[in-house]
Amino acid sequence: MIKQNLNTMGQSFQSEIEKATNIDEIDNIKVKYLGKKGKLADLMKQLKSLDKEEKIEIGKQANLFKTQFQDQIKEKSKQLKRVKFDQQMENEWVDITLDPIKTQMGSLHPITMVQNKLEYIFESMGFQVLDGPHIESEYYNFEALNIPTHHPARDMQDTFYFEDGNLLRTQTSTIQIRGMESLEPPLRIIGTGKVFRCERTDASHDSCFHQLEGMMVDKNISVAHLIHFMKTMLSEIFESDVKVRLRPGYFPFVEPGFELDMACLLCQGKGCSVCSRVGWIELLGCGMTHPNVLKAGGVDPSKYSGFAFGMGMDRLAMMRYGITDIRPLHGGNLNFMRRFTLK
Ligand code: DAH
Repeated sequence: MIKQNLNTMGQSFQSEIEKATNIDEIDNIKVKYLGKKGKLADLMKQLKSLDKEEKIEIGKQANLFKTQFQDQIKEKSKQLKRVKFDQQMENEWVDITLDPIKTQMGSLHPITMVQNKLEYIFESMGFQVLDGPHIESEYYNFEALNIPTHHPARDMQDTFYFEDGNLLRTQTSTIQIRGMESLEPPLRIIGTGKVFRCERTDASHDSCFHQLEGMMVDKNISVAHLIHFMKTMLSEIFESDVKVRLRPGYFPFVEPGFELDMACLLCQGKGCSVCSRVGWIELLGCGMTHPNVLKAGGVDPSKYSGFAFGMGMDRLAMMRYGITDIRPLHGGNLNFMRRFTLK
């Protein structure tokens, strides 16, 4: 009878394991036949009632089944796992030779990059970064900068006036006066931002552009200090040793005033199309602050002297990134902007 049961169990195990299609079913079969309360264990309990010889024979057979079941379970689960893996490979197939999906990285505007870099350079030399309003009074934009109402220099910086007499600032030099008013000398300040002029637009002029203004006021400041700071700033920005020269230049708020040129980096001063064959590139205006300007800022010119400088950041960005027309810089065309990534 027990022998009969044993054989039927072997057969039913056989058919169940063949039909199994997933790992859960295999687990159930394992518990059903080999578990502590499983069919094989049950059968073993019944052995007690048999005589010795039968016990040996059936015990042997049962043990044989046990190892056979274990082997078959192991083999079948391996097989099912392989089938599952193959199906997964088929469903989640990826062509690793395809180009990766391109993510669109944003970047800062070239002028913002130049501005950030300049602010960083000057901050590292002890300069404070100040801000000033775009809408200014005539006083801050002209008078305090030693440009009285009927001075011809006002013509060179024609701008947009509001009905109340205020105007869109034409230069960031306004920040010199605001800086001196709010700080005590000695002081080192820079100010950056948009300026506006009534310009005829072409490849190098726009009615809105960006300037950086700087000023240092202390005892015994000389042209040597001015040259030192300008050279250091340009060498940092262009990441190479830059040669500069000063030419006389007229700006009402400085005396003496200079135009600062930089040796063309493309031809090393030999002359090329970028520098119009002169070897030098006009970069910024600068000079020793006029006593009237110091006075307007509340600084005593008999105790203190200073230098100041101002330059266009658009121009610098154009040179730094090889851009030949100023207009796309202010045009908002993203295809153009994407060419410039943060460096
Ligand atoms: N504000 C001048 C301009 O817009 C540039 C300038 C020249 C600024 C000489 C200065 C300076 O501080 O000393 O053309």
